[in-house]
Amino acid sequence: MSEVGVTSPLPGRALDRLAERHSVRVRPKGPALSGRDLAAFVGEAEAVICLLADRVAAEVFALCPRLVLVANYAVGVNNIDLEAARTSGVWVTNTPDVLTDATADLTWALTLAVARRVVEGDRLVRNGGFSGWKPDLLLGVGLQGKTLGIIGMGRIGRAVARRAAGFGMWVCYHSHRDARPPDGAEAEYVPSLDALLARSDVLSLHCPLTPQTRHLMDERRLRLLPRGAIVVNTSRGEVVDEEALARVLASGHLGGVGLDVYEREPEVHPALLGRPDVVLLPHLGSATGEARAAMADLAVDNVLAVLAGKPPLTPVVKPLVPRS
Ligand code: GLV
Ligand code: GLV
Repeated sequence: MSEVGVTSPLPGRALDRLAERHSVRVRPKGPALSGRDLAAFVGEAEAVICLLADRVAAEVFALCPRLVLVANYAVGVNNIDLEAARTSGVWVTNTPDVLTDATADLTWALTLAVARRVVEGDRLVRNGGFSGWKPDLLLGVGLQGKTLGIIGMGRIGRAVARRAAGFGMWVCYHSHRDARPPDGAEAEYVPSLDALLARSDVLSLHCPLTPQTRHLMDERRLRLLPRGAIVVNTSRGEVVDEEALARVLASGHLGGVGLDVYEREPEVHPALLGRPDVVLLPHLGSATGEARAAMADLAVDNVLAVLAGKPPLTPVVKPLVPRS
């Protein structure tokens, strides 16, 4: 029996399953943990399941010598010092695959909400402004025949691309990790990011946050998009320079923006809040009951494997020399 810390209650029954084998300490809902506070919570635990808002810096590995696994309850792992984990002998795991469809669906929800002015329409009805069908009421843009540009053709980028055929869109993509086209979807690899941007009527971001992708979408690149383009971000807020995005939107260059993630999450750039052509969601990419329960199951299965001396199912970091 080992000790496992969980930094927040999780949906589904997975933690009950973990508690049948190990001593589980679940922190009640509260602000995200970082540095020494996170280390204090981990204490003598051998594994921790944490949220993407928790910051797992090198000092956590130094202060918690019994820790052998950080199981992130997210697919993105930009909240963890991966190199420090590796050299400290600690496994890091994530929750890929189980949230891919949920996140791809939400990407389309945002795209359609912006293109067809869904949120503006809802507000108009609630505010009593709907006085009957009109030829020119809240006209949006059609997606059929337009080009969808995808940056980052990983699991989620592929799932977004597969859905594009249903909307009659042509898919172009740029990807560092893997230039393979998505299975079951026609798509064109564009080696130059600038050339991809110049063709994207809708741009959707699906790359991980790394030092290379921070502010990938800066003012120069945003201005390469065709006039009237829609930008959708369900990846990480820091991939977009939010200040530049607000400026380029205000200049009238973009047709609209849909954001699920923010550069200084949970803060949102004030210039975006008042704009009707911006749809803002509170980081809901994986937020279905099904996906969140499956993420908890996967995190728990990773913990059970490592604590049984086996390799985890979905490793992101394999330790240089595992701690014993
Ligand atoms: C959510 O943003 C995740 O990385 O799972
Ligand atoms: C995440 O699952 C990705 O590879 O896009």
